[in-house]
Amino acid sequence: MKALVITRFGGPEVLELQQVPDAHPAPEQLLVKVEAGGLNFADLLTARGGYAGTPKPPLTAGREFAGREVTSNNAFGRRVMGYTQWAAFAEKTVAQRNLLWPVPENWTAEQGAAFPVNFFTAYFAYWKAGLLVQPNVQANVHPNDKPAAARVLIHAVAGGVGTAAVEIGKLLGIEMYGTSSSDEKLARVRELGLQHGINYKQRDYVEAIKDLTAGEGVDAVFEMLGGEHVARSVRCVRDFGRVIVYGSATGETPQLDTRLLYAKGASVHGLWLSYLSANRPLMESAWKQLSEWLAAGKLHPVIGKVFPLEQAREAYTLMQEGKNYGKIVLKIS
Ligand SMILES: NC(=O)c1ccc[n+]([C@@H]2O[C@H](COP(=O)([O-])OP(=O)(O)OC[C@H]3O[C@@H](n4cnc5c(N)ncnc54)[C@H](OP(=O)(O)O)[C@@H]3O)[C@@H](O)[C@H]2O)c1
Repeated sequence: MKALVITRFGGPEVLELQQVPDAHPAPEQLLVKVEAGGLNFADLLTARGGYAGTPKPPLTAGREFAGREVTSNNAFGRRVMGYTQWAAFAEKTVAQRNLLWPVPENWTAEQGAAFPVNFFTAYFAYWKAGLLVQPNVQANVHPNDKPAAARVLIHAVAGGVGTAAVEIGKLLGIEMYGTSSSDEKLARVRELGLQHGINYKQRDYVEAIKDLTAGEGVDAVFEMLGGEHVARSVRCVRDFGRVIVYGSATGETPQLDTRLLYAKGASVHGLWLSYLSANRPLMESAWKQLSEWLAAGKLHPVIGKVFPLEQAREAYTLMQEGKNYGKIVLKIS
């Protein structure tokens, strides 16, 4: 079968379309004919050899996909979207049964491929931030009082996880602040429901948050930049605020003097979908809520660009340069 192979560790130039042996499912796995693959920042890191647990090349790239289940008699079954660690960008892939979900009826394969990583990660970020509870059912709020909306700062708000976080935040009634390098991207995310866009090329986001919240700060920051941004994000939270760290897109080692946390009783929480995906009850509870929202037509993966698999290097380059809006999808068959 045809597959996108990481031939050695490096940039997009190490990717090659090659013929590889067919995928064969183990007993707890299902075989899927892949129609589309979702590109993630983690795919760049995997190609570079910088993603924890990556096997030595050659290996097939890709961690998220949508397609058709292949049944034991080689017929096509359900339309599914799924999550795996590698080998999704191929004509066929195998996946754990519990990491495959039905594609909503009116969705294309491209939309399905753009869903799992972004929406599970964004959902878990709100969970770690303690913000999944609707404000009007919080213990200390009288039912007749309109509670103040919780505030979240979302870095890379115009990206894959960022746009998913905006859609979920809107459903949760969150006041959202988001950073991006581009006014044009921010204008598009505003249409999704982002209330406060901050162009970090023009404005220091720590100062902007101070100004926009009358000096109070936000309840949580979704932080995926690394380097100095961990400490700078802590500076953006109000009392007892939480910084959810889930990436390091700058490539710089996260820096934080933990004494910075004392003053406001702030905390830092880690989030890694690769690890959480092995926790079945947790994934099931997330899917219960996400599938309810999907059934009500409330979530719509934002796709910035679709590339044929043959142009995977261009797709990786677009993401590497930070020029993508929403999700980049590879059309596979
Ligand atoms: N822990 C987990 O389980 C998990 C799961 C999914 C994703 N992640 C992490 O979340 C982050 C976003 O992932 P994604 O797949 O949704 O990507 P993405 O946000 O669609 O793309 C990355 C975006 O980050 C921004 N950015 C800021 N500094 C950058 C830099 N130095 N290099 C490249 N981009 C930079 C760019 O947007 P602007 O130009 O608008 O700033 C760019 O578009 C990544 O750090 C990823 O590793 C973690």
